[in-house]
Amino acid sequence: MKKIGIIVGSLRKESFNRSVAKYLASVAPESYSISFPDIGNLELYNQDLDDTPTDAWVKFRDEIKALDAFLFVTPEYNRSIPGVLKNALDVGSRPYGQSVWTGKPGGIISVSPGAVGGFGATHHLRQVLSFLNVYTMQQPEAYVGNITEALDDAGQVVAERTQTFLKQYMDGFVQWIERF
Ligand SMILES: Cc1cc2nc3c(=O)[nH]c(=O)nc-3n(C[C@H](O)[C@H](O)[C@H](O)COP(=O)(O)O)c2cc1C
Repeated sequence: MKKIGIIVGSLRKESFNRSVAKYLASVAPESYSISFPDIGNLELYNQDLDDTPTDAWVKFRDEIKALDAFLFVTPEYNRSIPGVLKNALDVGSRPYGQSVWTGKPGGIISVSPGAVGGFGATHHLRQVLSFLNVYTMQQPEAYVGNITEALDDAGQVVAERTQTFLKQYMDGFVQWIERF
């Protein structure tokens, strides 16, 4: 069974991105296993610790290494990706030559209550993933704007249009993974 890790770029308890991530997990084929690697417990990356990594870094790197594909679902912070997500990418990328990201397929979805849908975050993340040699799906793109209109009070994705779009995205992503 192939394993997809959905990495959510928000630590907020009622995160809209987490709502979308959970919905995506619910529409993934049953032949795939889905996990949500935790990036909120990782100490800030410090190159001095390359030879003496923290327990949380070691656990995270092992967890990512065991995955077959990564799906990033992230907010935009100040037209870029949240620091917590960049930190996780950096932690997984080192020590030099031992990156746990390299050579696997990936997807990016940015989610925002604003109309632009996190365009800046998607493309900054695409730049980083390109360097990390994650084979990032080009199409469909997913800038999910005005997200609050698609959620109910419990944070479930209830708007049919958004559900359909996210299902199509997941179908496309699975096809992308199958190419590797
Ligand atoms: C520090 C900070 C910067 C933000 N910058 C942007 C931005 O550049 N673009 C945007 O669409 N929303 C921005 N927002 C609003 C977020 O989209 C909003 O807080 C959203 O709820 C975050 O996603 P979450 O619900 O998954 O935590 C920003 C929020 C914070 C806290």
